[in-house]
Amino acid sequence: MTTAPIHAVVNLDLPGPTISRHVYGHFAEHLGRCIYDGFWVGEDSTVPNVGGIRADVVEALRAIAIPNLRWPGGCFADEYHWKDGIGPREQRPRMVNTHWGNVEENNHFGTHEFMALCELLGADPYVNGNVGSGTVREMSEWVEYLTRDGDSPMAALRKANGRDRPWRVPFWGIGNEAWGCGGNMRAEAYADLARRYATFVRDHDGNQVYRIAAGANTDDYAWTETLMKTLNCLGCSRQPKGPFQALSLHYYTHNGEGAKRGTATRFTTDDYYLTMLRARHIEELVRGHAAVMDCYDPHRAIGLVVDEWGTWWDVEEGTNPGFLHQQNTMRDALVAAVHFDVFHRFAGRVVMANIAQTVNVLQAMLLTDERTGALVRTPTYHVFAMNTGHHDARALTVHLRGDLPRVDVEGAELSVLSASASTKDDSALVSLTNLHATQAQTVVLDLRGREFTGHEAHLLTARSLTDHNSAENPDGVVPTPHTGVRTHARGLEVDLPPHAYVTVRLRLTAI
Ligand code: AHR
Repeated sequence: MTTAPIHAVVNLDLPGPTISRHVYGHFAEHLGRCIYDGFWVGEDSTVPNVGGIRADVVEALRAIAIPNLRWPGGCFADEYHWKDGIGPREQRPRMVNTHWGNVEENNHFGTHEFMALCELLGADPYVNGNVGSGTVREMSEWVEYLTRDGDSPMAALRKANGRDRPWRVPFWGIGNEAWGCGGNMRAEAYADLARRYATFVRDHDGNQVYRIAAGANTDDYAWTETLMKTLNCLGCSRQPKGPFQALSLHYYTHNGEGAKRGTATRFTTDDYYLTMLRARHIEELVRGHAAVMDCYDPHRAIGLVVDEWGTWWDVEEGTNPGFLHQQNTMRDALVAAVHFDVFHRFAGRVVMANIAQTVNVLQAMLLTDERTGALVRTPTYHVFAMNTGHHDARALTVHLRGDLPRVDVEGAELSVLSASASTKDDSALVSLTNLHATQAQTVVLDLRGREFTGHEAHLLTARSLTDHNSAENPDGVVPTPHTGVRTHARGLEVDLPPHAYVTVRLRLTAI
């Protein structure tokens, strides 16, 4: 069944702020099988690798133009001592990863391995420093080790470990979740501590560090306000002079708490709608945190970095509960699609976002099969692939007009259509999501301000919302060229099947 067409009005000649490619960022923690078995198999593995790093994982992530990678945590970051992860691997001290599964961490994947991975990926490193159990000196020396040229003590140590030239490390996290696993601090205490740490995260030899303070959980606007107060004053219009360039925000989508968040692949339509309601809550959260930031930083010099987001389901049966390993269905893909629409809409404030996590953990792009070593691209991966045209493009506002379809979810209204658009290099990309589980929708793209000479469209959907990809069926959910697009007096008419994500690329005439 279809309903009356909705009009999506796009003014192609009124580009807004740039959508940083960094909102398509990633996150790799020493957690479960993300680093070990996901990225790192070691040089002696039978899995094809480059210096110990899985070649197929690198190839898959390069194909979606991964812009940055956050490491080593997460909660692990505040227990990690970087000097344990340098030098000859067999001599590196071991530790217990108490936070994630109580397993041994042999430190074989450390600073040099991470930087080699970033170089292979062509991604900017985002290193998260240890505030919770580390020291200012430790963090300061890590920055020096990574980025200082010449003959300082840490540069000399790096050279002794085989790397002559410094690396470029643009992004630096000053702790993680300081309100929780990062030290259970009060906002005021963390804000002061983070100022001190950030002071010694120095710019060496032209490496300009973008310092990201550990920001709020979900709707803790008071945390954001406290951090903003340390940077500026209420209503001040001068440029902030504080020691951070950004604050983070963490928000996970799930249907419950603790070990009862819902399963990744077995869910009802009602469960699905609840998930979508919660996924769309990201809009209220970003708007709320941005509003607080606007009061203290009206010129938007401070970035909001959503450096942990995504779905968090119960772990797959038979897996270590501390490994956070979950499957990934068409539902997860739609969660990603609506998050990106919000990041695009708030491009003026949201400068980076990192889905949690890249391989084998939570809402992963890639799953590696423990038994066969096979690599599986998840439905979420394909949303990232379909959206590469939004990287560093200028945001276009999409006005949805008409009787917007809604579904009642536990007394709240879920709006089931979501859209965003951008323009770059005489082209535009429009993203359209239909969250309705069973009802198709036609959308008229009312394109104004510029002519277009052609289009191509792609569709990601599945027979069932629970459909997913696996080693046995790796291409169960993949994008296909979308034929349900027709010319219309106002632009284009696009068919959206139920639970579907569609992108339409327009070729624009030059101006
Ligand atoms: O991504 C998993 C965990 O979620 C991270 O380690 C932590 O920062 C968050 O609570």
